[in-house]
Amino acid sequence: MAPAPHTQAPQTQAPHTQGNVPGRGKAAAAWGNFMAWVDERFPLTETFEYHMSHYYAPKNFNFWYFFGVLSVVVLVNQLLTGIWLTMSYVPSGDGAFRSVEYIMRDVEYGWLLRYLHSTGASAFFIVVYLHMFRGLMYGSYRKPRELLWLIGMAIFVVLMAEGFFGYLLPWGNMSYWGAQVIVSLVGALPLIGPDLMEWVRGDFLMSEITLNRFFALHVVALPLVLVMLVFVHIVALHHVGSNNPDGIEIKKHKDANGVPLDGIPFHPYYTIGHDLPAIVGFLFIFCAVVFFAPEMGGYFLEKPNFEQANPLKTPDHIVPVWYYTPFYAMLRAATYPLFGLSAKFWGFVVMAGAIVVPAILPWLDRSPVKSIRYKGWISKVMLALFVLSFFILGYLGTIPSSPAATLMAQICTALYFAYFVLMPWYTRVEKTKPVPERVTMR
Ligand code: HEM
Repeated sequence: MAPAPHTQAPQTQAPHTQGNVPGRGKAAAAWGNFMAWVDERFPLTETFEYHMSHYYAPKNFNFWYFFGVLSVVVLVNQLLTGIWLTMSYVPSGDGAFRSVEYIMRDVEYGWLLRYLHSTGASAFFIVVYLHMFRGLMYGSYRKPRELLWLIGMAIFVVLMAEGFFGYLLPWGNMSYWGAQVIVSLVGALPLIGPDLMEWVRGDFLMSEITLNRFFALHVVALPLVLVMLVFVHIVALHHVGSNNPDGIEIKKHKDANGVPLDGIPFHPYYTIGHDLPAIVGFLFIFCAVVFFAPEMGGYFLEKPNFEQANPLKTPDHIVPVWYYTPFYAMLRAATYPLFGLSAKFWGFVVMAGAIVVPAILPWLDRSPVKSIRYKGWISKVMLALFVLSFFILGYLGTIPSSPAATLMAQICTALYFAYFVLMPWYTRVEKTKPVPERVTMR
């Protein structure tokens, strides 16, 4: 078939569009001039080289190194879908629930935006939990990455708050009562509790005023903080350099040009060969959930939340979304009043303690080696018990409390904290394996 007239090469064509070498040279020269113009005014090439093409990452990254970049992908998804949801969402007592229904039924592709956002919230916690677990395994929190770890912990706490504030916005019955339970914890603080609780809610009970402030925090304040924290997280990482599965500092062995012998340029090797396939694989799974199981059997979107908030009707069984359930189980595990303070107060202390205690890991780990590959058997057993207890607590947080469930939650809470509290002891006394001089490729 003859090409359409507009696709035929015109007889008189400018040299740079003919595809010959001198033509391409001109285009390249124009590009070079443009970049020089930009670089004189902004360090674009320098920044790209520093963070990408001249950033030497250890050559032995494995599966566990997918989750940092996947966290960035999910963050971008949350920001974009969040902005579009906000265009149709109405943050008022009357409008919130109705506007979410409107988004689901009437807004073009509104259902997709909402499911991308709600599934994205769960995906965020999956990838961040795996990302943190990698840090625990390979001792990525150890010197010189303590600050990187602390910034990560700040991200984690802000992420938890972001999820909590966002969960109230659909103004479903579980949104309402879930927020009621958590805000009422503040009321358990001695002396200032009741007044503080009223201040947080902005009212005598959860109301539109509370919804409005949660909306402001969820949509403006915390995303800003999150993005800034992720930025400094990456800056800190690229300043000290990445750890790796062997826990060896690759900067110790450099060639004559100062390039780490065990490092490879992050771009193009990791961007194209490692992260891109991971992103594609992740998006397949993510889209499968979005299109085929967005409620995930009530774990990602809970059943009572398909009913509008009703201050007069408590759901049969108030449970938070799955990613909070391990901490919720620890909150409920505290059943004894102590020192004249209520069990609820101690539950709050245990829950908050469980969330922030990983922050002090850099100062708890006394092992001469970083990676779990070379640590002794006690570290391995303690890490396994920690993970197991976290899963069991996650399950216990989803079921109604009973004496047996409470006892189990107490045991698992003890195991969870034992991982941290006993760490200075077991990392010092256990026998470690010799660490190789250079990274290994297994
Ligand atoms: C929005 C959430 C987060 C984003 C977007 C993010 C992003 C990243 C990226 C892109 C990397 C480099 C790639 C990699 O090592 O996988 C990284 C490394 C790291 N992140 Fe995060 N991160 C997040 C949350 C966290 C949290 C919650 C922690 C821990 C409390 C954490 C601790 C670390 C550590 C220690 C490293 C260096 C790991 C190593 O070199 O072995 N990050 N992060």
